[in-house]
Amino acid sequence: MTPPAFTQVTIPRPDDWHVHFRDGAMLEAVVPFTARQFGRAIVMPNLTPPITTVEEALSYKARIQAAVPDGVSFDPLMTCYLTDTANADEISTGFKDGVFTAAKMYPANATTNSAAGVTDIANVHGVFERMQRDGMPLLIHGESTDQAVDVFDREAVFIDQVLSNLVQDFPDLKIVFEHVTTQEAVQFVRDRHAVRPGFIAATITVHHLMINRSDLFRGGMRPHLYCLPIAKREKHRLALCEAAISGPGPFFLGTDTAPHARPAKESACGCAGVFSAPVAMEAYTQVFDEEGALDQLAAFASENGPAFYDMDVNAETLTLEKTAVSTVPSVTSSEGDEVQPFLADEGTSWRCV
Ligand code: NCD
Ligand code: ZN
Repeated sequence: MTPPAFTQVTIPRPDDWHVHFRDGAMLEAVVPFTARQFGRAIVMPNLTPPITTVEEALSYKARIQAAVPDGVSFDPLMTCYLTDTANADEISTGFKDGVFTAAKMYPANATTNSAAGVTDIANVHGVFERMQRDGMPLLIHGESTDQAVDVFDREAVFIDQVLSNLVQDFPDLKIVFEHVTTQEAVQFVRDRHAVRPGFIAATITVHHLMINRSDLFRGGMRPHLYCLPIAKREKHRLALCEAAISGPGPFFLGTDTAPHARPAKESACGCAGVFSAPVAMEAYTQVFDEEGALDQLAAFASENGPAFYDMDVNAETLTLEKTAVSTVPSVTSSEGDEVQPFLADEGTSWRCV
């Protein structure tokens, strides 16, 4: 007799270790979607201008907290954006005072709002030394910015040219390889974790678990599936699924939810970013269900992240149940900007209770 299929799953309240909230009216429109399901979120600092000081982080945090619906507990974890002139003292003070949870390195021009990023990693070696000493995690957008490198190869090339040297030069630096999209990245994290557990981790988005590069062109061009790093071949998606369901270890949840108003996506030169917050836990749960791995959802969504960041697992729980599929409505800010969520047409077969 086949065991009955699960129709409900309860896990410790999850956290989202990679979100973009933007600012102003957009922030107010999107924060509730993350706060309703996640206890904490790592908030990316790529505003224009970026968050580089303790003061800016505190004021940004207050704007986020003001957008959390009444009665909802949610803790935004702030990050500092690294530039060529990043100030090690400011970053270290911010970390020790509990304002910055981590620092984010965007190679200059790798992605949305990364123009002020790091042009040469040598420029931030002093900052990395201090972060290593303080135990402050470094979050990395891992893509080569060499325009001659094929866009589908940029993550693998970054590993060979930058990341493999970085972990040798800074063996005690805690690194999160953000939104990994390739077999090579999964293997790199596994290998490094075997040598230096607790010093390397990776986030995996739900869209990279669900789509491959062919989906970007299914029946026509799909701008709402365009993000960076770009989705890769099916074999890479399969490697990501295997990593996500692998249980306790270095892989954890980070949606990279990144809202852009519809005209910026549906454009002759569309922006990179998938807005997944409205369906995040529903979609991850659907993936784990389809993989027959609902028993590993808690490790990926609720436990591995806090273990890496030296935090407690959230005390509350979240229950999801299987349901009829329904479509996902778009979100409109008070200024009239409309954002199309991930899976808007497809919907998901799970919902938060
Ligand atoms: C992100 C954004 O829009 O801020 N876009 C994306 O495609 N993921 C930036 C990023 O994380 O690369
Ligand atoms: Zn991101």
